[in-house]
Amino acid sequence: MAKETFKAMVVTETEDKKFVREIKEKRLDDLPPGDILVRVRYSSLNFKDVLSTLGNRGVTRKFPHTPGIDAAGIVEESNVGRFKPGDEVIVTSYDLGMNTSGGFGQYIRVPADWVVPLPKGLTLRESMVFGTAGFTAALSVYRLLDYGLKPDQGKVLVTGATGGVGSIAVSILAKEGFDVTAVNGVVDEKAYLLELGAREVISIEEASDESGKPLLNATWAGALDTVGGIILATAIKSVKYGGGVTCCGNAASHDLPLNVYPFILRGVTLMGIDSQNCPMSLRLKTWESIGTRWKLDHLDRLTTETSLENLGERIDLVIAKKHKGRTVVKLPE
Ligand SMILES: NC(=O)c1ccc[n+]([C@@H]2O[C@H](COP(=O)([O-])OP(=O)(O)OC[C@H]3O[C@@H](n4cnc5c(N)ncnc54)[C@H](OP(=O)(O)O)[C@@H]3O)[C@@H](O)[C@H]2O)c1
Repeated sequence: MAKETFKAMVVTETEDKKFVREIKEKRLDDLPPGDILVRVRYSSLNFKDVLSTLGNRGVTRKFPHTPGIDAAGIVEESNVGRFKPGDEVIVTSYDLGMNTSGGFGQYIRVPADWVVPLPKGLTLRESMVFGTAGFTAALSVYRLLDYGLKPDQGKVLVTGATGGVGSIAVSILAKEGFDVTAVNGVVDEKAYLLELGAREVISIEEASDESGKPLLNATWAGALDTVGGIILATAIKSVKYGGGVTCCGNAASHDLPLNVYPFILRGVTLMGIDSQNCPMSLRLKTWESIGTRWKLDHLDRLTTETSLENLGERIDLVIAKKHKGRTVVKLPE
């Protein structure tokens, strides 16, 4: 039986327009209506959660709010036949943690269409080591493989490599046999990236061309970008003839200072990646791969576990650009 009250991080807007995070008691009645009540065992920290805690209205319109775009746990109540109490499930994406009370609380209540059975091969905790960041990395690799990228075509660039998406992208590409060059620079983490499987690590400066040239030396067979801005533009200008580049994030910038020449002279393709509204069939296929061929041996190497009480310290690390890899949040029993 679900408890009547539960612990959650609550972000509140103060009268002087500041946003404060506190761990508070909430009531099950505070949760929105929905088909499935899930007792959350693990969540994870993503870039979007940090934006929500900072009051970014593009992510969360109304406060007080409980962030957490990822949750893994046990079904407590269900009003649909395909899920029953006791089932292990994950919920990521859609509106979870944005304007729907999220995984930084011991319970969530969500529509059944958001719920994915725990993929074979993963524990609840492992599913949250991947979480939205890992899922997005996997989706990006899927698109590159679907596009036809093969290891014998040459080096593949991954940007924002120590981040959640980047760390898992480096790891999955290396597991697929690609020669990965990682871009890293905010904090020097070369040894970490080599351990994850990168063959080479280059700096943000090396990956950022300020010359304004429309095309650069054709270096990469493909690229997986998480940061946007000049680094993405440089990657697109440096991809070999017919190469593909995925774009999923804006950790550096939402701008893309570029002209059409890489596309019309080199036949480069830019592929947008969205995890939030990814169709369920592709979502299930991607999670299945994460639990099988892309299950990583070194998950512990890229994971820090924290409690709800200490989550604020990890959020502060992201704000200070000192966070690396993935943070998994263990909710109280
Ligand atoms: N489209 C989607 O569905 C989707 C899903 C998940 C995430 N995202 C987006 O993907 C991006 C990455 O997410 P994440 O969870 O990996 O974030 P993260 O863990 O905070 O990592 C971002 C990484 O980007 C690099 N970086 C940060 N600021 C930079 C700057 N000013 N210039 C160059 N590099 C910088 C850093 O790596 P280095 O120090 O190694 O350079 C940092 O570790 C975010 O924009 C996020 O919103 C999109």
